[in-house]
Order: sequence, then C-alpha cells, then structure tokens
Amino acid sequence: MTSESLQASRGTHDIWGTEIRLWQFLEQHARRILGQANYQEIRTPIFEATELFNRGIGEGTDIVSKEMYTFTDRGERSLTLRPEGTAGVVRSLIEHKRLQQGVQRCWYQGAMFRYERPQAGRQRQFHQLGVEVFGSDDPRSDVEVIALGLEFLEALGLSHLTLELNSVGDPEDRQRYKAALVDYLTPYASDLDPDSQVRLTKNPLRILDSKNPATQKILAEAPQLPEYLGQDSQRHFERVQSGLTALGLAYELNPRLVRGLDYYTRTAFEITTRELGAQSAVGGGGRYDQLVQELGGSATPAVGWAMGLERLVGLLQKRGETPAPDLDFYIATQGEGTANLSLQITQMLRRHGLRVEMDVSQSALGKQIKRADKLGCQACVIVGESEVATGDITVKWLATGVQELVAFPSGFSDSAVWRQKLRPNP
Ligand code: HAM
Repeated sequence: MTSESLQASRGTHDIWGTEIRLWQFLEQHARRILGQANYQEIRTPIFEATELFNRGIGEGTDIVSKEMYTFTDRGERSLTLRPEGTAGVVRSLIEHKRLQQGVQRCWYQGAMFRYERPQAGRQRQFHQLGVEVFGSDDPRSDVEVIALGLEFLEALGLSHLTLELNSVGDPEDRQRYKAALVDYLTPYASDLDPDSQVRLTKNPLRILDSKNPATQKILAEAPQLPEYLGQDSQRHFERVQSGLTALGLAYELNPRLVRGLDYYTRTAFEITTRELGAQSAVGGGGRYDQLVQELGGSATPAVGWAMGLERLVGLLQKRGETPAPDLDFYIATQGEGTANLSLQITQMLRRHGLRVEMDVSQSALGKQIKRADKLGCQACVIVGESEVATGDITVKWLATGVQELVAFPSGFSDSAVWRQKLRPNP
C-alpha cells in the first residue's frame, strides 16, 4: 500500500537549519533590548474565545470578517486562533487585575494566524514580536515604544527603514472625519473599486488603504484625517512628534495611515521598508486608549506595536547574515574500544559549558571530520584505538588543519585553556 506524502499546510512553513539560528538570534536580541527597558515577557494562549477578537479588533475589519481561523470545540464553544497578540494580552491583564497595579510594560512573541492569500512575506501562520504599555496616556510612552522598536531594528543592523506616523484621533474626531470622507466619496461611488464600494457603508476609513489606481486618484483630493483632530488629540500628536525629534528619530507624516484594526486612538504608525516588495510593513502599532474598557476592564490608556518576524528574518537573509557556528567540538571516533572514552570526553567538555556533538554514525573517520566542518565546529577531537592505548588524544583545529595531542583526562580538565583557544561564543 502506498500513501501520499504529507506537506505543511498552505501558508505555513517549517523553520530549521540555518534559518532557525536567525530566529534564535532575533529572540535573544529581543530579550536583551526589551529587558534593558524593563518590559516583562508574557505568554498568552494561542486560542481564545472568538468574541474577544470580534469585540477587540472590530467586526468590520478584514481580519475579523474574513481572515480568522474560527472553530467550535467539543464543548460547543466558538474559539479562534489568535490573529494578533494585543487582544489576548489585554484580556489577560484584565483577568489577573494587573491594570490596577500601575503602569505595566510587557512583550510577547509567538505564532499568529490569518487566513490571507499567501505570498512572499505573507503567511497564514506567521510570528509576531510585540510590546504593549498600559496605564499611561503620556505622549512619552508613545515615543518610548516607537524608539524601542527602531532601536531593536537598528541594533540588528537594519537600515532603509521608514517610520510612518499619523494620528487617528479620538472616536469623536474620527466620527467627524468619517462623515466628511463619506460625503466626499459618495458622488464618486460608482468609480471606486468594488472593495471600496462595500467599505463606503461598512468601514469607510479602510478605503484610504486601497491600492487601486482609480480609487487612489479620487482620494488625492479627499479630506485628510489630521485636519479633523480635536484640540487634545492635536496637542498629543505634537508632543509625540516633538519627543521623536528630541531623540533624533526621523519620521514621515502619512495622513492616510489608518491601520487594519479598529482599536486605535490617536497615534498610529508603521515601520516600512522598500526591500520586501509588496509586503512593506516590518511592523506597526499605535495607541489604543479604549480597548481595555471595551473588553470589560476599567478605562486604561495603552500603546504598543508588533513586528512580523518572518519579515525580519527575510531582511536579515537578504543582508547575507549568517549566524555564527553553533558548535565548538565534534567528537569523532574510530574503533569499538573508543566508545567509553568518547562519552567521557564529550561529558567533560560539555561540563565546561562548551558546545559539543559526539558522532554516533559509525561512518568512516574522513566522513566524520567532513561533517564536523559542515557543522561549523571549531575543532574535531579524534578518538581512535591508539588514543585509548596512550591516553593522548588528537585535537584537529578545522580552520587551520593544525593538530595537537592532548592528554586525557588532565589536558581536558581545565576549561580556561579551552576557552582561550576557542573563538568566543556568539
Ligand atoms: P498588524 O499591523 O496587523 O498589527 O501586524 C503587525 C505586523 O505583523 C505587520 O507589520 C507584519 O510585519 C506582520 N504581519 C501581519 N500579518 C502578517 C502575515 N499574514 N504574514 C506575515 N507577517 C504578517 C497588529 O497585529 C497589532 N496587534 C500591533 C499592535 C500591538 N498594535 C498595538 N499593539
């Protein structure tokens, strides 16, 4: 009987080999930069009650109306694989009463799910790294999170990034703007692309995102959101801009930036690059002062962002980033009598904190050394019958081909000696 081989589902991918090292590198980098700013990691469940996203992200958004992975479990509950991280974090902080404990700064990373048409940089299962700050409407918290995002990217060596900035105002500001936009667009309704025609009644602000040339042309003369900001929103926006300037962070005002989730108030931003083709957003975020209340908590202002890790990995790969080797030593063996000695050497070196792989393939010595080279090991420890007999072990340094004899166990017992000889851990 033959069976068809199974493949990863469309829009998902396996991460392994040299690519996983880039992911690990990104994760370490995130821990360091966010830890310095005292952000606490939070891990929320991958699935949540569907209602959380309906209420949080908004029923009129593309995400909720057509991209969610929603299912009914065996207890007849409607559950959804999280399409983003913010709603779950808010739910968690309300549930655990953490919002009563002053300003909360947190970060998260993990898989998110959206039923989108897969293409380069756009997947159905993708990963986000995100930060959220709760409990302050001080414009400095907007500046802090934006600066943290930019610093994270810059420290990775990623340049050619643009910070696009807008204010989407308070709900009242947006209501006034929505009315003005609909008034302006209605006479052109039949010239708009089909999606925008539907949005005209359902979610007019999303029309600003249309890539359709005819719609774009009509939008060129449309009223602009920042003109409709009330005094408070305007002042807040000015202070955010002033803070960014004080930190020497460049930004481009984009009055059409409205973002794809309904919860934003005031500051909205995206970090974009030209290096990724159509999927230009590396990350995005903004302020969401009403969401906590909408999800049942007490009024708590908040601001945050999320970045797409696949897109970051793509940028690092484009830059030719090759992660440093993972291994210090490869233990090659030849002959049955070497079994216990190879186990002992492996254990000893690992106890020194060194990274060691022991060969168990039983293949020819030449093949084992080749594998050591391929794995990026710095040295190959060769344990043969003569080594067992004399106690002098051959260590071959792979970059130079130089070999030396090291006495076992005395020569292996001093970790400082090995650390001196090895290139430092990445
Ligand atoms: P978002 O703009 O929907 O915001 O997603 C943030 C980032 O996730 C995007 O800029 C992109 O890099 C990545 N991303 C989104 N969808 C995909 C996909 N299908 N494939 C690959 N990458 C993708 C949010 O999710 C908000 N929760 C951000 C936020 C946090 N706002 C405030 N706090």
